[in-house]
Formats: sequence, structure tokens, C-alpha cells
Amino acid sequence: MNGLARICWITAPIYALLGMAFGIWMSASGDHTLSPVHGHMNLLGWVSIALYGTFYTVMPAAAESRLAQIQVLLAQAGVILIVPGIAMAIQGAGEGLAKAGSVIVLLSMLLFVWVVASRIGRTASAV
Ligand code: HEM
Ligand code: HEM
Repeated sequence: MNGLARICWITAPIYALLGMAFGIWMSASGDHTLSPVHGHMNLLGWVSIALYGTFYTVMPAAAESRLAQIQVLLAQAGVILIVPGIAMAIQGAGEGLAKAGSVIVLLSMLLFVWVVASRIGRTASAV
């Protein structure tokens, strides 16, 4: 398995464990105020990063480009910023971190579209 896929497959389950533990804490406490924090930890951290890991596992050649490395770096940075950012925004402690995180998450997805499109283009021309 290439380095990018490995990074994705190591970090995604960690985000899942943290997100699920937070979900269990919400259920146990009955306090669901921060449910979007839990939702986005699971959906951006576990689901999205695992999908990137899947792509870079089945398309290892795509993982070789500098653009793909930046894509995964931004995806990780986005999760790390947006999750506490959402908590701060809900608690009225400022929206700056959530805004920064959301733009970085979006940039990461834009790069992913570019990485996938250029790979599909090359695969199609090779057939
Ligand atoms: C141990 C596993 C989990 C537990 C105990 C758990 C628990 C919860 C609880 C208590 C809520 C709040 C429900 C409400 O207020 O109506 C919630 C919301 C949510 N959960 Fe989970 N969850 C778990 C796993 C997951 C996973 C794996 C995902 C996604 C892949 C997920 C996605 C969501 C989403 C999207 C919401 C709604 C967030 C929002 O209100 O914006 N959960 N969960
Ligand atoms: C730039 C990235 C994203 C931003 C800024 C964002 C923002 C938001 C906001 C502001 C809400 C409403 C929260 C509330 O009601 O308090 C929300 C809810 C939600 N988001 Fe996201 N989101 C992002 C990415 C995603 C992704 C990638 C997924 C799924 C893979 C997702 C799934 C959901 C779900 C399931 C809900 C709950 C909807 C509901 O309760 O009806 N989000 N999101």
C-alpha cells in the first residue's frame, strides 16, 4: 500500500473512534447540543478520508503526484480545524476556525476532483 493510502487508512479509523465515542457520550449524557461536531467528525474524518484512502489504494499511480499529497494534507488539516471549529461556533466562541476549516475542506475536495479527473483522463487515453 502506498504512503498516502496508508495515512488515510491509519487516520480514518482514529476519527471514527473519536466520533463514535463522542456519540456514545452524547447518548449517555442526553446532551445533543454538539451533534454536528460528532456528525462531521464521522463524515469528514471517517467517511471522506476512508473514501480518499480507497481511491489511492485502487489507483496507486494517482498517489504519486505532489497534488495528491497536498490533497490529503488539506483533507487532514480541514478535519482537525473544522471539528473544534464547529464546537466553538455552536458554543458562541467564534466562527473563525469553522470558516477556515470549511474552506480547507472545500479546497481539498476541489483538488480531489482534479486528481480524479486527470487520472481518468490518462486511463481513458491508455485504453
Ligand atoms: C457508536 C456509534 C454512534 C453513536 C452512539 C452515535 C450517536 C449519535 C447521537 C446521540 C446523535 C444525536 C441525534 C439527535 O440529536 O437527534 C447523532 C447524530 C448524528 N450522527 Fe451519530 N452516532 C454514532 C455513529 C455515527 C457514524 C458512524 C456516523 C457517520 C458515518 C454518524 C453520523 C451522525 C450524523 C450525521 C448525525 C446528525 C448530526 C447533526 O445533527 O448535524 N454517527 N449520533
Ligand atoms: C465544507 C464542509 C462542510 C460544511 C461547512 C458543512 C456544514 C454544515 C452545517 C452548517 C450543517 C448544519 C448544522 C446544524 O444544523 O447545526 C451541516 C449539517 C450536516 N452535514 Fe455538513 N458540512 C460540510 C460537509 C459535510 C459532508 C462532507 C457531509 C457528508 C459526507 C455532511 C453531512 C451533513 C449532515 C448529514 C448534516 C445534518 C443534516 C441534518 O441534521 O438534517 N456535511 N453541515
